[in-house]
Amino acid sequence: PATTVGIVGAGPSGLLLARLLHNAGIDCVVLEARDRAYVEQRQRAGVLEQSTVDVLRESGAGERLEREGLPHGGIELSWNRRRHRLDFPELTGGKKVWVYAQTEVVKDLIKLQLDDGAPLLFEASVTSVTGGGAATATATATATANGTANDTDTDTDKPTIHYTYEGEDRTLTCDYVVGCDGYHGVTRKAIPESALSTYERVYPFSWFGILADVPPSNDELIYAHSPRGFSLLSMRSHTVSRLYLQVPNGTDPEAWTDEQIWDELEARFAVDADWKLERGPITQRAVLPLRSSVTEPMRWGRIFLAGDAAHIVPPTGAKGLNLAAADVTVLARAFQQLHEHGDHSGLDAYSDTCLKRVWRAEHFSYFMTTTLHTDPDQSDFATRLQISQLDRIASSPHAAAELAENYVGIAL
Ligand code: FAD
Ligand code: DHB
Repeated sequence: PATTVGIVGAGPSGLLLARLLHNAGIDCVVLEARDRAYVEQRQRAGVLEQSTVDVLRESGAGERLEREGLPHGGIELSWNRRRHRLDFPELTGGKKVWVYAQTEVVKDLIKLQLDDGAPLLFEASVTSVTGGGAATATATATATANGTANDTDTDTDKPTIHYTYEGEDRTLTCDYVVGCDGYHGVTRKAIPESALSTYERVYPFSWFGILADVPPSNDELIYAHSPRGFSLLSMRSHTVSRLYLQVPNGTDPEAWTDEQIWDELEARFAVDADWKLERGPITQRAVLPLRSSVTEPMRWGRIFLAGDAAHIVPPTGAKGLNLAAADVTVLARAFQQLHEHGDHSGLDAYSDTCLKRVWRAEHFSYFMTTTLHTDPDQSDFATRLQISQLDRIASSPHAAAELAENYVGIAL
């Protein structure tokens, strides 16, 4: 079998890309290693930028999001037992964000795809991608410059996806392969190491995330700096809270009792005001390490990388899912340009276009992480700098606007 665009991975980036390509009349196939229930239950991000909401709506996946998504006009920062609210519309000329869980985005896209869309195979594990090399890109560029259609390429130049499905080894020949297979995916490994540069930073702490059956104790998210470490209050709905604690790397989530978790959260969110953190049954818990990573370029010949397969941000600042959506929006437009006008320029610009936004988000996520977390070896000097920075945000509309603009998403 063959297809135009082979997509590895059915996370948000693979699913949204498939939807956008389907709407543009471009055929594609999505191969996902895990089963549907696993992909739909995987707890991850919760905040969508307006541009992510817009593309989901445009793709046809906005119906439930519009009904159930919670618009948020600000966040609160907490430090020195006080809180400061950032008013997004006021600071950004009218922008806001939406709280709607990644699990729900994924469910909505999967339903659309299975009802009316390109093939989406679960439990189809990709073992490797071969071919598609950079030599093809030059051949294609020359062909296009000469006004010849891109299908003058020989079949041997096309990349092949090797995967196992229903106990059998199978192959899928594609005009293009897009690796939407996350940080541990296999598509990136199809690209020679010498063609890629990776920039990385690992942090000396992790996030302990919980889901709890209790109405959120605050209407808006709270990002809290405290001498005991960072904590974040978020939500999934009016009845479900999502909370995070900074913990040492290697922490075993099962080693904490529910009471210990709530006590620690309470201590970190404590303020000199009449406010209380409500407790409830903890229904899910997991520890995730924090990492920054960028692989450049995001394209090699006929192979493209999108979302976490190309870049990771630490979650402070909620950029991961939004970057994934932005990548595939750019990529889908580029494929459409090729499909409708035989024009490769969008595909050729893909990596540079995306990396501008990626590096802005990398800087912002690093800034949020290092401003709000306490390094295990942190000096008092470094803590004073953090507090000074937070005080500056609270006293200067310019400093506040810099944070707010990045949080709601900068168009790049
Ligand atoms: P993914 O969602 O990782 O999807 C990749 C898909 O590819 C997966 O379904 C995987 O099963 C599949 N796959 C992998 N290898 C293969 C293979 N060989 N064959 C077939 N399929 C394959 N961001 C935030 O903003 N806030 C958060 O709180 C937050 N929490 C996170 C927690 C965790 C544990 C992780 C890993 C990420 C978190 N993120 C968070 C980041 C955000 O969830 C990601 O940026 C987003 O999921 C990226 O989407 P993606 O589709 O590119 O990758
Ligand atoms: C959530 C996650 C984040 O990383 C963040 O910055 C805000 C909210 C969440 O899971 O709700």
